[in-house]
Amino acid sequence: MHCTEREKELLQLIDRAKIPGHIAIIMDGNGRWAVEKGLPRQEGHRQGVETVRETVRCADKLGVNTLTLFAFSTENWQRPAWEVNYLMSLPEKYFHSELPELIRKNVQVRLTGDAARLPRKVRKAVEDGREATRDNTGMILNFALNYGSRTEILRAVNNLINAKAKGVIKGEVDEKTFSEYLYTAGLPDPDLLIRTSGEKRISNFLLWQLAYSELWFTSVYWPDFSRALLMEAVYDYQQRKRRFGKL
Ligand code: FPP
Repeated sequence: MHCTEREKELLQLIDRAKIPGHIAIIMDGNGRWAVEKGLPRQEGHRQGVETVRETVRCADKLGVNTLTLFAFSTENWQRPAWEVNYLMSLPEKYFHSELPELIRKNVQVRLTGDAARLPRKVRKAVEDGREATRDNTGMILNFALNYGSRTEILRAVNNLINAKAKGVIKGEVDEKTFSEYLYTAGLPDPDLLIRTSGEKRISNFLLWQLAYSELWFTSVYWPDFSRALLMEAVYDYQQRKRRFGKL
């Protein structure tokens, strides 16, 4: 693997004992990346998948336990059909080419979002990926697909009301129980949220789970996001003092 000077430097600087356990990424700017190059928007998404490949490899190498990637939001259905169709073709392509490597690297695939509303071929691709990596114990690669945080919270509330009515839950619902009703049940909250493309918004992503996450923004569009930038984010994270409201 060829490393730039800055990458070598960052590899020295990063404290291996303080790697964020869970990194979540809002992969933004594919469209602008393409348009600014005079290319169709799909080209940006295609290149975005390449960045996903590299980011997964790098996060795994760094020793990240969970990597959550926001790949498609519940709001993204409002894009033109040709773009939605293109985006929906990507998970299948990704798993087709990457699954053997993910299996080899002991990565476990997870899905966060409403799978039922995804086209059958997408559901199958993710389901096959999940099934093939179910017993893996390495990094959790969590794709947020057809994901919207408010929907997730409402779903949890409704399921909790039902559980309460059936007597499954006794007493008051606490934070731990509530978390178990979210799509992300069993996963720790993100330690670090990265958003590319210069936007500084959460965009209905993991609203509950990001309560105490460190936020890191870069103006670089997702297709140009790199190993070096992931390491910059991790290094920056390591310089912060997380207080969780305490002194
Ligand atoms: C935001 O960029 C990005 C998306 C809506 C899709 C992100 C998806 C990928 C990077 C590929 C997913 C890969 C797999 C394997 C599922 P944008 O189109 O909103 O960019 P813009 O704001 O510049 O228009």
